Amino acid sequence: MCGIVGFAKSDCLKDTLDALQLLEYRGYDSAGVAYLGNGEIVVVKRKGSIEGLRRKVGRKKTDLTIAHTRWATHGKVSTVNAHPHAYGDWAIVHNGIVTNYASLRADLERRGHVFRSTTDSEVIAHLLQEGGKKGDALAAIRYTMGRIEGSYAVAALCRYSPNRVYLFKKGNPLVVGKGEGFGCFASDTPALVAYTHRVYKMQDGEIAAVGKREILFWREGETEGGRRTFGTTSLTLSNVTKGDYATYMQKEIDEIPSTADRTYRAYETPPMGWKGAEMERWILVGCGTAYHAALLGASLCKGEAIVASEFDADAMQVDDKTGVIAISQSGETADTLKAALDAKSKGGYLVAVTNVPGSSLTHLADEVLLTLSGAEIGVAATKSYTTQLAILARIAEWLGYRKPTPSPLVPLTSVLSSSATLAEVAKRRWSTIFLLGKGRDYVTCLEGGLKLKEIAYLHCEVCYAGEIKHGPLALVTRKTLVVVVCTDEEALQADLCALSEVRSRDATVAVISPYDELCRAGDHAVRLPDGKGWEQAVGIVPLQQLALWSALYKELDPDRPRNLAKSVTVK
Ligand code: G6P
Repeated sequence: MCGIVGFAKSDCLKDTLDALQLLEYRGYDSAGVAYLGNGEIVVVKRKGSIEGLRRKVGRKKTDLTIAHTRWATHGKVSTVNAHPHAYGDWAIVHNGIVTNYASLRADLERRGHVFRSTTDSEVIAHLLQEGGKKGDALAAIRYTMGRIEGSYAVAALCRYSPNRVYLFKKGNPLVVGKGEGFGCFASDTPALVAYTHRVYKMQDGEIAAVGKREILFWREGETEGGRRTFGTTSLTLSNVTKGDYATYMQKEIDEIPSTADRTYRAYETPPMGWKGAEMERWILVGCGTAYHAALLGASLCKGEAIVASEFDADAMQVDDKTGVIAISQSGETADTLKAALDAKSKGGYLVAVTNVPGSSLTHLADEVLLTLSGAEIGVAATKSYTTQLAILARIAEWLGYRKPTPSPLVPLTSVLSSSATLAEVAKRRWSTIFLLGKGRDYVTCLEGGLKLKEIAYLHCEVCYAGEIKHGPLALVTRKTLVVVVCTDEEALQADLCALSEVRSRDATVAVISPYDELCRAGDHAVRLPDGKGWEQAVGIVPLQQLALWSALYKELDPDRPRNLAKSVTVK
């Protein structure tokens, strides 16, 4: 959720703010930067946009920076709570949560420390000061790491060590980049690709010192700094910028056919060492969109889906014959990581389905199946969902529950152009939107409803088609839009019944279906192409587009919805 970026590079203040802007997509409510100038640490931070921060910073010369976008969790949104937090010789930015901050703070206050913010993060700056009294930055970091509990990725500037930025982490990601004559770092690779493609993902417990010419690392207990082998990221600047598109969300919806096709083709056969056939049962976990993929995956693989934050390996009797598929675009969602760890602790076979190579989830998993979506920048998950479905379809094939089909390229390409009828629907102001479906189409409705809430702030109710008459119908009025999704011929009659029930309460009805009879019965219809085995991947696209257009008509920024972050790295 929060973003970290920084440089050890000549005259790097502008680069720092430009890179910080590439992290905006993660969601933020305040931003700040600290730099070393004339031997002093200068902190500039404010509530609101990075553009505003840029104006406040002005043009200053520095070779060492740390910067941050904050998405408030502990302590309200305010300039004083924004990062960096400075104390004594140190300034820090922090992602994660210090769970024992209250007792640490009380202890430090007893020793005379004065705190400015109400964040958990500020204790880190105070501990560094406390532990670094002898002028040894590494000792100060070790002292701090030994005291803080929870999860963290920290970048720190130290006044008495003016040529390097220190990094340390546990549980939250930090990527170090190396260029010609400079070093840089970020919580997320996309922030760095304009500067370098040579990256190293730090391991938990590692400390790094990033200088212009030298980057050193220490593992726990090591006194001598060592070097690391830097890999090459395949992300390009065009992957992480909008190009000619007005929004990332539109760009990413347009990338659905090619990315789903690429992902499905990449997994024709199981990876070497696949142990799926030895499993007696499957549990699928995820949050948000990834949970909806888990629901569909469970129906394909005859397993059980559970929201990651509700997963309890003990209660679910996970053992070494239980396959647990953890689905996460980012591979960093705290609830999913916790479920994955829990599953592993009971001997479960952990399969990670994620879009980010080297993410925390990949380190835990027995098997990693990468979705090949490319960077997904828009907060709303779109193309990552369809690539997750492509991999889950392959797993169902490997388990013998599904026959291989042609890739989803053709139906997905065709559906992209058939949603235009929903543009009219998006213009109206609905008091409530109902989404109705049966079986797997119900899951499509759940995911579509999530998009409409996340991006367009519309109140949505998702309901089984047959269930609307058992209560929710009371909410249907002429100001209600009802969207009926039907891709299964067997659901047709139930959906037609539901449609006439809401029609007789004067609702406006939009139908998303390949079936004439149903399409004719709606006020608006998106005629779906033949899904050819990819009905759910196809059916979600018009709903994603409806959410996008609704947001745009309301003059909202679909890429950066309020109160949401791209990846939620706190429990
Ligand atoms: C957050 C985002 C959702 C996303 C969910 C899971 O809640 O706002 O859009 O679906 O996290 O993210 P993940 O990276 O684990 O797929």
